[in-house]
Amino acid sequence: MSEPTKFLLREEQIPSHWVNLLPDLPGEPLPPLSPATGQPAGPDDLTPIFPMGLIAQEVSPEPEVEIPQEVREAYGLWRPTPLYRARRLERALNTSTRIYYKYEGISPAGSHKPNTAVPQAYENAKAGVKKLSTETGAGQWGSSLAFACSLFGLECEVFMVGSSYDQKPYRRSMMQTWGATVHRSPSDLTQSGRAQAQHTTGSLGIAISEAVEVAAQDPDCNYSLGSVLNHVLLHQTVIGQEAILQMALAGDEPDVVVGCVGGGSNFAGLAFPFLRAGSGARFVAAEPAACPTLTRGAYRYDFGDTAGLTPLMPMYTLGHDFVPPPVHAGGLRYHGDAPMLCGLVKAGRIEARAYKQNETFEAAVRFARTEGIIPAPEPAHAIRAVIDEVERGDAGCILFGLCGHGNFDLAAYDAYLSGSLEDPEFSEADMEAALARLPEAPAIA
Ligand SMILES: Cc1ncc(COP(=O)(O)O)c(C=O)c1O
Repeated sequence: MSEPTKFLLREEQIPSHWVNLLPDLPGEPLPPLSPATGQPAGPDDLTPIFPMGLIAQEVSPEPEVEIPQEVREAYGLWRPTPLYRARRLERALNTSTRIYYKYEGISPAGSHKPNTAVPQAYENAKAGVKKLSTETGAGQWGSSLAFACSLFGLECEVFMVGSSYDQKPYRRSMMQTWGATVHRSPSDLTQSGRAQAQHTTGSLGIAISEAVEVAAQDPDCNYSLGSVLNHVLLHQTVIGQEAILQMALAGDEPDVVVGCVGGGSNFAGLAFPFLRAGSGARFVAAEPAACPTLTRGAYRYDFGDTAGLTPLMPMYTLGHDFVPPPVHAGGLRYHGDAPMLCGLVKAGRIEARAYKQNETFEAAVRFARTEGIIPAPEPAHAIRAVIDEVERGDAGCILFGLCGHGNFDLAAYDAYLSGSLEDPEFSEADMEAALARLPEAPAIA
């Protein structure tokens, strides 16, 4: 064994702080706006559905936020996660490019999502909340929150996007094993669900509305979001901080950092600590061509959900009631993106690319046949982007986020392998119609 494949850290090297990139962002941060008044939303607008501990993190101006001891202990169940050098993929691609991946699939739920589910459940339990409601697209977030609620003795109610509910029955079993209740969305349990009954495949926007409605009506229940918000991105920065130490162990530095983007949390979690450290790398975000928010969305204020219950956020959006085609990367079927990430894309610091399903699964299968791990359909977009970088010529050193495994996504692989996977088109006309329904809000430059 001359050349190492894995770069591992010890448990005491789990980060002690999260990295808050808010103070480093170019220009004045654009505030979220209250859905009721259209005025800047303050902590008071968030207290009906979030605990103060998380609201404080959401608006924190501090460059670092300490990780509570109880959260670090729970992280110890699976963190630090490994960094791999993809030597077999490099050989198969016949490239001198050095490729590394940070693998989050070893968490109990199989992805990066428990990195934020655990601190969210912890802060809610500390505030005396009894139950959390949420949505899930891929099933990864719902599983993660179900797991985290079981650690802190909270009930958990999950609205699962219809197309994923049908594609992934064992994700539902997983959530139920951890004690959660799971509904197919749109459901007839909420006004938001009943109003969207015609969209039978569902969307993250609809499922978010259902979960927010449940939380807003029950004083013992809070809402929990698995992406987009500042505090979620903050929690995910354990990924990049560990990766910096592991790249140093490997004696290397990335020239390109690649990740997939749904709402932006795993990408930000990997990229933000490198940005904080002043890395000169290029940053590349990969998204589905069927839901191309960063590459084709409008930079506007929009709601985070379909029914318009959440604050308005400045972001690249396809329109809050746009229902993306039911592609298998359910976690990437979101109409907007994290405002912090959008600001960096707008400033030109992050590049974005969009890929179709078949080219994405072709890359995922290539990866599985060389590196062994079957990737979740979401990070398969990042693998596609990595292979594209390599095929353009020596890219030096690439680091990418393999944010989850695809062991519960085999229906998607089945469709690809049998030749029946479709490449659904994004409809510009549908998006234009959705944008025309955006609420009144100040224009953003
Ligand atoms: C495995 C996986 N990757 C990526 C995502 C997209 O979310 P984000 O962009 O917040 O990382 C999801 C969301 O459910 C997911 O399950």
